[in-house]
Order: sequence, then structure tokens, then C-alpha cells
Amino acid sequence: MENSAALSTKKDYRVPFGTVSITDEAVKLINKALESKWVTRGKYVQEFEEEFAALFGAKFAVAVSSGTDADAIACATLYDEGAQRGDEVIVPALTFVATANAVVQAGFRPVFVDVDRNTLNMNPDAIEAVITPKTRAIMPVHLMGKPAAMDRIMDIARRHYLTVIEDAAEAHGAELNGKKIGTIGAMAAFSLYAAHIVTTIEGGIILTNSPKLAEAMQSLRNHGMVNKFEFSRIGFSAKMNEIEAAVGLGNIAIFEDILGKRRRNLLYLIDLFQEFDEYFITLREEDHEKIGPHAFSIILREKLPFTKESFVEFLDQEGVDSRNLFYSIPTQCPSYQFLGHKLGDFPEAEYCADNGTHIGIHQDIELNQLDYVAEVVKKFLKQNL
Ligand SMILES: Cc1ncc(COP(=O)(O)O)c(C=O)c1O
Repeated sequence: MENSAALSTKKDYRVPFGTVSITDEAVKLINKALESKWVTRGKYVQEFEEEFAALFGAKFAVAVSSGTDADAIACATLYDEGAQRGDEVIVPALTFVATANAVVQAGFRPVFVDVDRNTLNMNPDAIEAVITPKTRAIMPVHLMGKPAAMDRIMDIARRHYLTVIEDAAEAHGAELNGKKIGTIGAMAAFSLYAAHIVTTIEGGIILTNSPKLAEAMQSLRNHGMVNKFEFSRIGFSAKMNEIEAAVGLGNIAIFEDILGKRRRNLLYLIDLFQEFDEYFITLREEDHEKIGPHAFSIILREKLPFTKESFVEFLDQEGVDSRNLFYSIPTQCPSYQFLGHKLGDFPEAEYCADNGTHIGIHQDIELNQLDYVAEVVKKFLKQNL
């Protein structure tokens, strides 16, 4: 991979969590943009939007400054449909905190639904129970690139006249029943933060097939402006710049290569972990789906003679970098105490947070590093069972 740099923070891990690919082509485009002195949103951002939309087979793409802004701006289009401040958007309890933060930033109330520890995604059976007259949208997250139950979610949304906004931050390249993740809901928000498959270092992008929604989002990213200095919506300052778009164009050019390597790593690790199935729940890929690999989740099964902390510490000592598998936002994130939930309200999400971790499977990890991960896990189990 050209000009890749590990994103490890603490030390040089033998199996680092993240990486970023900045291609030679991207460097050339960055230099051109700098030389031209046109560095704010211009032709590269437009090209990037067109190429990203084409990659996914969507009609429109709106580039913004982060995945969180992408989520928030997609939510803010609900005002055009008559939503009021304080209306509700349904989100999974277990996801990166940005999903819920974006709902709040857009002026709505996040309503949480528990997940299923086997899929990491929103439990579709729990959605209808939380729909109220104030519900405006459902925002499923495809966590770790594993597609959420979109058929069920779209059906519920249709019956209750709700908008579906996919949080596809972690799901570049995922597919469900032959459809690309990011093209099923009315809108889909992607993070382009370093370590995602298509990255602009920092950035986000929203896909839609609706010209009306695309226009609303173009206005929302730029303070709600419609014509020069005419502001018709309460907007955001969330534009992408030419330098970021240049990095993104470089990544789109090697998208299949990155996706192929990550999928090879994912499937290889799924295979290696079959041996440890008695101890860990890990990602599974069903026939009707393709995971767009973000990272590899490992959740301890119940009643084991060791803790997640001891497992993670062992991984760290042996040079395998890992991250916690997020938190139950309504009950384990202090910033969400204002919603008044109590520990135990979202048992699956809390279980995943207490017992789950995730490790890298990115494009710069080779199969022998994954063999090493399996060796480390074997060694840990030998010492701790
Ligand atoms: C599920 C999810 N949603 C939203 C975001 C926010 O993206 P960003 O960090 O680009 O703001 C992320 C971050 O990767 C994420 O994992």
C-alpha cells in the first residue's frame, strides 16, 4: 500500500489497530491545489462527490467535514418534512457515541434501542415499542461493517411513515441481498476519518437519490444558505476542503484493493477464530450479506474464568492493539445521563461494552500477523482456562 502510516498511538504494535493510505496520486493533487491557491471547496470536492456517488451507485453525494456532521446534517433535513425541535430519532444503544451526539446536535432527542450481541446491530424486534407520535426517523448503524437488518427496518419505517438514515460510517463496501449499504435508506452518512476504507483524513459524506434532500444537505453544510447570504435553514459550518478531497480521490482509486485486502483479512480471522468459538462471539458473515470490514469484534462469552480486562491487557503486552467495543450510550456514557436511563435498561449493549473489544484487520495487516493474533489468543487461553 502506498504511503501508509499506522495509526497506533501508544507504541509500535506488531498488529496495529488502524492505518491510513495516502496515495502518490493524492499527493500530486494536493500539490496542485496548493499551487493554484484554491484550497476551499472547489473542483476536487465536486469530483470526489461524483466519484463517491458512482462507486455506490447513488445519484448524489454531499461531502462534509466529518461523519458526525454527515449524521447531523442528514437528521436536520427532517425539518424540511415538518419535524419540530425535540422530536425523536431512534438509534442503537451500542454505537460510537457520535451517532447519538449528531442527533442531539441536530436538535432531536435520541431514543435508544438495544442491540443483539451476535450481530452488534439494532434489534429490529425492539423498534416498534419505542415509536411515539414524535418519532421522525430511524438511524440504524452498520457496526463493524456488518449490515443492520435493513429489510425489517425499512418495513417498519414504511408502516410508520418514518425516514431511514443509515449510519454507514463503518460500512464502506458492505452489501445486503446484493444491494450496497448506503443506498437502502433515504440517506446514508459515511465517516471518512483516517482508518476507514475511503478516507479524507477527517471528513464525511452523505448519499441520497433524492435531489430535494441533496439540495437541502448542500445548504445545511454551509450555514443553511440557499442563495448568497440568504439563510433558509439553521445550518452547520461543515464543508470539505480541496486537500481532503484530494486524499479521498486517491483512496477511491484503490478502493477495490483496500476492500479486497480487508475482506481477505476478515474472512481469514473468522476462520481462525472458529477454534475459539466456545469462548468468544466474533463477527459472522451470512450468505445474504457482505461485511465491509472496519475492524474485528471479539466478545467474551458468559461465565468464563477470565475477564475482558485481563484478555485485553494480554493482547496489549503481546503487541496486539485493541479498542473497547464502544458503550451503551444511554446507560454507560455519563454525557447521556440527562435522558434518565438506568444501568440494566440495555443489557445486550452493556454486555458488549463490558465484554467486548475490537482489533484491526486493515489493508496493511498481512495474514502472518493474523496467524500471530491466533497464537496469542491460544497462549492466553492456555494460561487462563
Ligand atoms: C458508527 C459511527 N458513526 C459516526 C462516526 C463519526 O465519524 P467522524 O469521526 O468522522 O465524525 C463514527 C466514527 O468513525 C462511527 O464509527
